[in-house]
Amino acid sequence: MPAIVVLGAQWGDEGKGKATDLLGSSIDYCVRYQGGNNAGHTIVINGEKFATHLLPSGILTPGCTPVIANGVVVDPAALFREVDGLQERGVDTSRLVVSANAHLITSYHTTVDKVTERFLGKNQIGTTGRGIGPTYADKINRIGVRVADILDEKILRQKVEAALDQKNHLLVKVYNRRAIEVDAVLEELGEYADRLKPMIADTSLVINRALDDDRTVLFEGAQATMLDVDHGTYPFVTSSNPTAGGVCAGAGIGPTRINRIIGVIKAYTTRVGSGPFPTELLDEDGERLREIGGEYGVTTGRNRRCGWYDAVIARYAARVNGLTEFCLTKLDILGAWDRIPVCVGYEIDGERVDEMPMTQSEFHHAKPIYEFFEGWNEDISGCRSFGDLPKNAQTYVRALEEMSGAPFWAVGVGPGREQTVILR
Ligand code: GDP
Ligand code: IMO
Ligand code: MG
Repeated sequence: MPAIVVLGAQWGDEGKGKATDLLGSSIDYCVRYQGGNNAGHTIVINGEKFATHLLPSGILTPGCTPVIANGVVVDPAALFREVDGLQERGVDTSRLVVSANAHLITSYHTTVDKVTERFLGKNQIGTTGRGIGPTYADKINRIGVRVADILDEKILRQKVEAALDQKNHLLVKVYNRRAIEVDAVLEELGEYADRLKPMIADTSLVINRALDDDRTVLFEGAQATMLDVDHGTYPFVTSSNPTAGGVCAGAGIGPTRINRIIGVIKAYTTRVGSGPFPTELLDEDGERLREIGGEYGVTTGRNRRCGWYDAVIARYAARVNGLTEFCLTKLDILGAWDRIPVCVGYEIDGERVDEMPMTQSEFHHAKPIYEFFEGWNEDISGCRSFGDLPKNAQTYVRALEEMSGAPFWAVGVGPGREQTVILR
């Protein structure tokens, strides 16, 4: 199975890093196809914890080539901070390749991200402040600066000048901020140019050749289905396409290349930032999920909002991504409840709805309809096979599988690579 996609089925932080690592030993290439250093993926190897943000998690797998493809937005300062941090811990980063066509996040993008969020006031998205939205906006507006542009100083100056011409009008006249100097931006990018140059490649060619040679390539999604700019809870989304369709545009491969699409999904739900969340718990159960599940952001440290499993979202993710399977994570966290609610449908303005509603205003009005499952009240972190799980946990997993629209491949019972039950 040479091309495998691992992506988030909910609002992010499902455990994509762990799922990627789980496939690790058989992976030759690990590709990020969208997003940037807004991601925070945790990998625990032999009890040692690592977090990746812009880099593909496969960088931690010996022998794997990490690829930052064209659909990613790259903050060079963040890139080298992460590379240096991993090198200090003995990780070999020398294989890393970065697409010539990926767009660069500069200081004016992070400035605009933060300033526009403040300007939105109570309507703010709750972005990570990493400049993601403004960089993708420049890409679509055709005033972006790409990685290859740092290879030519003259072109780089022209492009930064053109982009800043617009930004400075906005910053000075609308937001009452100081203008950003072209030379300051060029100096900042210049600092990283020499280190970046040897990593730059035509990553579409690299990936397609690898697939031709029957090598295994894993495409690691960042963010998630419900944060997708087209299929998520717009406008409370990120600015890229984390869904499976994003892989083709973001990495330069054809859809016929893809063999497996794994949706990572938690045994409950979390969300960071603003936006609708039907099963959100604003009570003691929500607090307990956060505390027991350690639901605090890897990138921004913010509290994650917590709620019960939502099968409507699971079915939606199975549909828009064409999932071949799910990887269910964090089942162990639910060991502290006697009774576990699962959302099986919504009530919207007095009517029962079983699929994701068509409009965002309907989704805002969605009230979860719950089915209840008996808890198992025990520590399952040592279970290694389905038969090891308590009967009630087995029933919970099979019921979720039944209602979620794709078979379950694996179940996570702890953060470590080995803390996994493989179902098929
Ligand atoms: P990602 O962004 O999707 O990679 O997920 P994050 O790393 O942001 O958040 C997932 C968290 O859950 C991390 O702290 C993981 O180490 C942890 N994790 C992943 N799978 C499991 C699991 O099955 N059980 C437990 N207890 N923790 C898990
Ligand atoms: P991983 O890959 C959870 C959320 C932000 C905000 C919205 C837009 O670790 O699952 P952005 O900075 O992207 O413009 O913010 O998206 N967000 C995430 N939430 N996990 C992530 O990544 C996220 N990346 C962005 O909180 O609501
Ligand atoms: Mg995360």
